[in-house]
Amino acid sequence: MGNKVAVIIGGGQTLGAFLSSGLAENGYAVAIADLNQANAEKIAQEINLKMSCNVARGFYVDATDEQSVIKLANTVDTVFGRVDLLVYSAGIAKAAPITEFKAQDFDLSLQVNLVGYFLCAREFSKLMIREGIAGRIIQINSKSGKVGSKHNTGYSAAKFGGVGLTQSLALDLAEYGITVHSLMLGNLLKSPMFQSLIPQYAEKLGIPAEKVEQTYIDKVPLKRGCEYQDVLNVLLFYASEKAEYCTGQSINITGGQVMF
Ligand SMILES: NC(=O)c1ccc[n+]([C@@H]2O[C@H](COP(=O)([O-])OP(=O)(O)OC[C@H]3O[C@@H](n4cnc5c(N)ncnc54)[C@H](O)[C@@H]3O)[C@@H](O)[C@H]2O)c1
Repeated sequence: MGNKVAVIIGGGQTLGAFLSSGLAENGYAVAIADLNQANAEKIAQEINLKMSCNVARGFYVDATDEQSVIKLANTVDTVFGRVDLLVYSAGIAKAAPITEFKAQDFDLSLQVNLVGYFLCAREFSKLMIREGIAGRIIQINSKSGKVGSKHNTGYSAAKFGGVGLTQSLALDLAEYGITVHSLMLGNLLKSPMFQSLIPQYAEKLGIPAEKVEQTYIDKVPLKRGCEYQDVLNVLLFYASEKAEYCTGQSINITGGQVMF
């Protein structure tokens, strides 16, 4: 196993899988945890094949379930013996106008995007503290955590909550040298999450579905969607010692779409 250890929650597909692979390529041993255990194991296997060594393991977790998160932390501790970086990438987006928004979808949004982040940060920071590691906790957030998002009340409320949680964690963990950040992404246009929302976005914007992507690109000063590599680039910096004097930040990766 490599030296530094990263845990990626929601690493079984899309952005989380990309970040898991990128972290492995940058010298981390990676614990990939996901509600979809088969996906987590598949990604770990692909990474091990690509790297020609055993740096990745896949695990089951339901990040919204306290006992499941505690079990994951114990297992990661047993297998890897330390944690240097926690990336919380698990997320869910349910879109509907407020008059039709189901209470259970609102609650699920809070559970996956916010409560899971709290549970994972709590359990993995304990391991960092025990080992005296000046670790890093990074939440994958969204520009919807800084500006409201039409028809996305549950998602946006949860992501705004993530910013407050990040700042509070940063204060609690500063004495241990553990730093905490949220990465505020623009739209990952090719991701299944964005693609699945296209029909709702077409409806809310009153345009045909095939015009949705371009409409979203037009909103971005740098004129393209957010790429997985953009997120990895910023993540690697904030995970590194070069960023040791930064904590509690909500860092925009939006091509200039959000500037505060
Ligand atoms: N896709 C976008 O356009 C976009 C834009 C901005 C921010 N984000 C954020 O980026 C992150 C990743 O998004 P994505 O597009 O890769 O999403 P995705 O739906 O493709 O992947 C999310 C992963 O989280 C896992 N997951 C869901 N609930 C879980 C739970 N309870 N416990 C453990 N794992 C769980 C899923 O199984 C899945 O593997 C999310 O936090 C999302 O809010 C995405």
